[in-house]
Amino acid sequence: MEKGIMPVEFVVSDTTLVKAIKVKLENNGLFIKPIYSAKDGKVVKSSIKDLNHPLALEISSIAGIKARIHRDIDLENLAGHSKYQCNTITEFTKGFLREHAPTIDEIFLSRLLDHLPLKYTIYPPVVLFNNSTVRTFNHPIWQKAFQLKFVDPKEYFNELLCFLSPGNQIENRSHYSKDRLLTHLAVNNPITETDVLRRPFNIQPLYGNLIDEGVLSDDDNILWENPSQEQLNSSIWCKVIQNGVTQIWSPVFTMFSRGNIKEKKRILATFPDVCNNDVVDLYAGIGYFTFSYLTKGARTLFAFELNPWSVEGLKRGLKANGFDRAGNCYVYQESNEMCVQRVTEFLTQNPEFQLRIRHINLGLLPSSRQGWPLAIRLVRLQGKSLKRVTMHIHENVHIKAIEDGSFEEDVIVELDTIDKSIMPSNHSDIKLKFVNSKLERIKTFAPDIWHICFDVDVIVST
Ligand SMILES: C[S@@+](CC[C@H](N)C(=O)[O-])C[C@H]1O[C@@H](n2cnc3c(N)ncnc32)[C@H](O)[C@@H]1O
Repeated sequence: MEKGIMPVEFVVSDTTLVKAIKVKLENNGLFIKPIYSAKDGKVVKSSIKDLNHPLALEISSIAGIKARIHRDIDLENLAGHSKYQCNTITEFTKGFLREHAPTIDEIFLSRLLDHLPLKYTIYPPVVLFNNSTVRTFNHPIWQKAFQLKFVDPKEYFNELLCFLSPGNQIENRSHYSKDRLLTHLAVNNPITETDVLRRPFNIQPLYGNLIDEGVLSDDDNILWENPSQEQLNSSIWCKVIQNGVTQIWSPVFTMFSRGNIKEKKRILATFPDVCNNDVVDLYAGIGYFTFSYLTKGARTLFAFELNPWSVEGLKRGLKANGFDRAGNCYVYQESNEMCVQRVTEFLTQNPEFQLRIRHINLGLLPSSRQGWPLAIRLVRLQGKSLKRVTMHIHENVHIKAIEDGSFEEDVIVELDTIDKSIMPSNHSDIKLKFVNSKLERIKTFAPDIWHICFDVDVIVST
């Protein structure tokens, strides 16, 4: 461990939370005594080295808790650091190779380090390395090291997982422990742009089976499109807490976009009208935005999702967050093309229910255009019960079209054209006006391309 690395501490203004945090840190071998009082609350110290560590993110996502770097402790003195006295994957690997492959020469060692993957994301229990053609264990030099048995991949990956685990869990390093926070290593390859289900084809496991091989069927289509409960249960399920909301997904079958956290935060911080109104999520995925609307107190949520693996993650997430108890989230595992029919059926089955759809989420990349006519039909189905419905249109847009305003203008014109084709104005006593409300830049998707969310208010008048 490098001298001078500072650990993370949590400032807890709601003191009823102190014990729970202490226990959580203790369970992960990351608690440091003593808890002390400061101006802004109680301070609970940890040996976590990085504000982006999953446990730091999880704890700091709880209201009333702030994470910050503690300036007075030198981690050098803390228990739980690796025997290789290292802080980076490179130093860890150097230490491992020196101990386990003492015969390899410096040139070979430095070539291995040149091609060592360094960028990764932790989604407990999985560590996912970013895809790279240069820094990859598939590089011939690493393959050679594995084939010539200079490096035993099982031993190396297991120790690497221990190193990346909180507190380094050195005592467990030679054991495969199911209780460990991190048990699997894999490489994440990019999502195929043309796949409308946004599935992570080509995820490459490095250590640990992401799905039990026993349940793999000869027919890949069945596994992807119509999995049995046994197959669903046999997958590894990752869990992340963002903004205090738990999300669960199978990394083999469903993408997870960490960058959406900004948009989830925006939903939580804005849109007071969600409370006690209805929301339709036309591309629900594992509940990325659905859960934010439920947290905001949506009365009823209609969620449409095609991918059965995402639907399973969505249902697990509903349960983990306690949303299932209210029974107000209706999940339809089918194309959103069915949305008008399903909502109509719902109204028939619940004759007392007066529909009040206030928000319609359209979260598909690179474009959610397929859902625009459906959203407009939903607004028309609802009629006059609300004067304003907001469509949240996700899209990948070139920076130029954002800056010169042409994207917003084009969308408004297109929505108007779609509406006129659905309902010529002389055929309806309800008029819809599309008004640009806000364009939010969420994250860069590629050079000059932004993933944006464009809020369009649909003003309903007679
Ligand atoms: C990008 S993902 C998850 C959505 C989430 N809002 C996000 O931005 O991360 C979009 C989801 O839409 C689903 N999807 C695509 N076309 C659909 C359709 N016609 N009906 C229902 N779901 C659809 C995909 O399976 C995928 O899970």
